[in-house]
Amino acid sequence: MAAFEILAAVVAVMLVFYYYMTSTADFFAKRDIPHLPQTPFIGSSVDVFLSRRWRGKVWQDWYNYAKTNGHKFLGVFLGRRPMLVVCDVEMVKTILVKDFQHVMDRGMYFDRQREPLSANLFNLEGREWKALRGKLSPTFTSGKMKSMFYLVRACTDELESYLGGEVQKGGEVEMAEVMAKFSTDVIGSCAFGVEANSLKDPNAEFRNMGRKVFEVDRLRVIVMMIAETMPWLRSLLPMPLINPQVKNFFTRTFNENVEYRERQKVVRHDFIDLLIQLKNKEAGHEGTDHSATGIDEAILPAQAFVFFLAGFETSSAATSTCLVELAHHPEIQEKLREEVDRVLAKHGSITYESLHDMTYMEQCIEETMRLYPALAGLPRVVTRDYQLPGESPKAVLPAGTRVIIPTYAIHCDPEFYPDPMRFDPERFTEENKKSRPHYAYLPFGEGPRICIGLRFAMMQMKTSLAMILRSYRVTPSQKSEYPLQFEPKSFVTRLRGGNRLRITKR
Ligand code: HEM
Repeated sequence: MAAFEILAAVVAVMLVFYYYMTSTADFFAKRDIPHLPQTPFIGSSVDVFLSRRWRGKVWQDWYNYAKTNGHKFLGVFLGRRPMLVVCDVEMVKTILVKDFQHVMDRGMYFDRQREPLSANLFNLEGREWKALRGKLSPTFTSGKMKSMFYLVRACTDELESYLGGEVQKGGEVEMAEVMAKFSTDVIGSCAFGVEANSLKDPNAEFRNMGRKVFEVDRLRVIVMMIAETMPWLRSLLPMPLINPQVKNFFTRTFNENVEYRERQKVVRHDFIDLLIQLKNKEAGHEGTDHSATGIDEAILPAQAFVFFLAGFETSSAATSTCLVELAHHPEIQEKLREEVDRVLAKHGSITYESLHDMTYMEQCIEETMRLYPALAGLPRVVTRDYQLPGESPKAVLPAGTRVIIPTYAIHCDPEFYPDPMRFDPERFTEENKKSRPHYAYLPFGEGPRICIGLRFAMMQMKTSLAMILRSYRVTPSQKSEYPLQFEPKSFVTRLRGGNRLRITKR
């Protein structure tokens, strides 16, 4: 009898679970929204469920399917969770800008109590995000970039001598790793105020921590899937979002540095200075309710952390991938080198002002980020019930629904970019840019949540490329894989097997 009761209880629990996992299957049908079917537990794609294919390519299949069938949107499922894929650039604009108030958050999992570093600008939501964004934006004006340029230049000089050493050793370099070290040094210097020494020291702690931040083992992939499909369940799991070693390192480094600067009255005009100013301004509001001013000073280390997290891998990947494309397109490399020589002859050396004259370089970087966007898609979540404009009155997305803007798919759409897989910086002349919709290009996102570090990233990428092209030539390595392949498991775009190149002195 007891065995029967246990069996009955197990069956009942399984049925309830099955019902829960499939109860969303008619979500889109009820709302007259074109959609793909839901496979119980898996959702619309087994590739996404098993993380065996890069999401950018899966979303591209969905985007192409929707476009071929004349749909502006496509409803899909991640496990049981419905997600709307936006497949029309006018709608992209509406969602990112015009109707931003309805779709302003990213729906990223964060937990301010257990993991204060996760309460950062990328993850924060609603009023709190808005207040913080307003306070951090002045940190990224062109004036502030100019005053930080000397720090980037110093790291570029280090990069030049590092590459000189590599040339003497034979010139075969893993460019993704070299640029990751360089950008760790840059962000370490600007966001944490320390010399990270990644280029000088093969065992530099900052670089090791940078590697750990992006490590994706099987368990982490599973936890990320749970956070994405059942956020309530994620918050019950004891697994930390951020490796505890990483958390301790960044929090300690930030706090020690703030303390040192305040004691010694050191001013470096970098991000940390600006965060200190913010902290002191907030202290001036003592006794005020932080939810009103929007800033709780305990979350400041999280902001330096997100500058590191969002800044170092994205910029370094774009620069090293650009170099790989230049190695495979020697005529484009020569044209760019001519520009660098001409501009440096005019300015005397690599100055902040000289970067503005490197317009062809900007085109090369833009074309790289078209083919290899840092985020395969821009995640959003509906914050207030949202009637899809121009659709059936039933097409109302309830708060909490996930939305994705499939950046990679749009960037590879032949309607906007003929022969889309070809690397061609001419697509980004002023004239050609004007000939296609603005929202067909989204490497930094768009609207009020556009990448806050865009200017900083461009400054860093251009400075390092200018130095490399001035002093060196890059060619493909025998060991390099081309065309480049995407790493399926990673949240930010990563290329499989790195970017090996041969580098020679000019
Ligand atoms: C090539 C380099 C970079 C690329 C391609 C890139 C790309 C992006 C993208 C696609 C987003 C999401 C935008 C959206 O949802 O609309 C984003 C957000 C963000 N990025 Fe970047 N990024 C880069 C460099 C940086 C740097 C250097 C920093 C900081 C120093 C930074 C800090 C941030 C932050 C804080 C956010 C969240 C902004 C918010 O929600 O208000 N990024 N970035």
